[in-house]
Amino acid sequence: MQEKKSIHGAWASRWIFILAATGSAVGLGNIWKFPYITGENGGGAFVLVYLFCILLVGVPIMMAEVLIGRRGRQSPINAMKDVARESGHSGKWSFVGWMGVLAGFMIFSFYSVVAGWVLYYIAGMGVGDFIAIGSEDAGNVFNGLLADTQTLLIWHSIFVVMVMLVIVGGVKKGLENAVKFLMPALFVLLLVMLGYSMQTEGFAKGWSFLFHFDVSKLKWDSVLEALGHAFFTLSLGMGAIMAYGSYMPKKTSIGGSVIWIAIMDTLVALIAGLVIFPIVFTNGMDPGAGPGLMFVTLPVAFGQMPGGQIFGFVFFLLVGIAAWTSAISLMEPAAAWLVEKFGWHRIPACTVLGVIVWALGVAALGSFNFMSDVTIAGFNVFDFLDFMTANVMLPLGGLFIAIFAGWFMKRKMAENELAMSSPLLFNAWYIALRFIAPVAVATIFVINLVEKLK
Ligand code: TRP
Repeated sequence: MQEKKSIHGAWASRWIFILAATGSAVGLGNIWKFPYITGENGGGAFVLVYLFCILLVGVPIMMAEVLIGRRGRQSPINAMKDVARESGHSGKWSFVGWMGVLAGFMIFSFYSVVAGWVLYYIAGMGVGDFIAIGSEDAGNVFNGLLADTQTLLIWHSIFVVMVMLVIVGGVKKGLENAVKFLMPALFVLLLVMLGYSMQTEGFAKGWSFLFHFDVSKLKWDSVLEALGHAFFTLSLGMGAIMAYGSYMPKKTSIGGSVIWIAIMDTLVALIAGLVIFPIVFTNGMDPGAGPGLMFVTLPVAFGQMPGGQIFGFVFFLLVGIAAWTSAISLMEPAAAWLVEKFGWHRIPACTVLGVIVWALGVAALGSFNFMSDVTIAGFNVFDFLDFMTANVMLPLGGLFIAIFAGWFMKRKMAENELAMSSPLLFNAWYIALRFIAPVAVATIFVINLVEKLK
């Protein structure tokens, strides 16, 4: 078969692919969400389940996404369709891509709101609003922000524009240039922060909170949360990584690249935990504080450390950058599809997408103020979007991708694309994809459903 080419361009090298995918993976999920859900789910045991999910479910499914993308060389919707047909199955498998596009919109809408908070904190740190602030005042600043619709709107809008501006630039000019510099910088700064937190009194306590595995604390909904987060943090189940895979050079090891991405993503999450929890404990705060954890505890710590204004500014700047490089991947599949389907330039495509996600984001942002009494199935809009995507749609999307790649796609095709040197490794991947991942996802789903109905 003749090698297909993507009409959208291609990454310059294997390392650019790894950095771009790591840029997608490392985001608010790692620095904001992972610490606070670990806090809410009691610490170590949750972390252990999460690590298992990354290794046994996340890594095999990520490999499947990359390989489908690279084989199809198109947006996830069209890649699923073509690869299914090539294997002698119905083009209707494109529904996996459609569900992914929908999930991408939904994630983006609350992601952009949180990214807006980050932008606000960048500015606040920059002008010294948090110097010597106490825990109570820091809490008031955050709650004041949530109540202030206008300010939220401004920062949310800015973030939407920032993301769309990169996507307009396309694969090479937009993304490639950014991730090369920003990702290593993020990593270095997290290490600097880790150095700081290691000197706090609460470090040992923070460490044992993260790594002391008390399985008795674990509940079934925590297991679902851990599984859902594994998908979220690796950007799986909606086609983001599939889209990035479609720009990947041909002669690049998929398995080897995916391992790197998973390791870097996991390290960033654990380090973020090791930065945040010691600070939480040192300041006598509650690790189960929820979504405000990063926005209340860190400013307090920055306010007290020497040079904290600068550290705080740079820290939030880097969180903002991490959010930025992630959010791009939420919209790239839809943008690529519009270009493929209608032959549009990226400018109209991004304008349309921008308007849609902006409006959805306004609904998510309203959960904290003018729409606080609107609930769906007992959740406010923000929490509903988060729960539905991370804990339902992404695992479901991942389940379909695993079933497709494991049971429908021709085995030969997978062998060719993965081109693994050892048959043993290939078989390990195949077994994880065909059995372990689907069974794990399905079981956790069913148990949770049963628990809920009880
Ligand atoms: N992985 C990102 C984070 O941890 C969020 C993200 C970007 C994402 N693209 C995605 C999540 C696609 C699910 C699917 O913040």
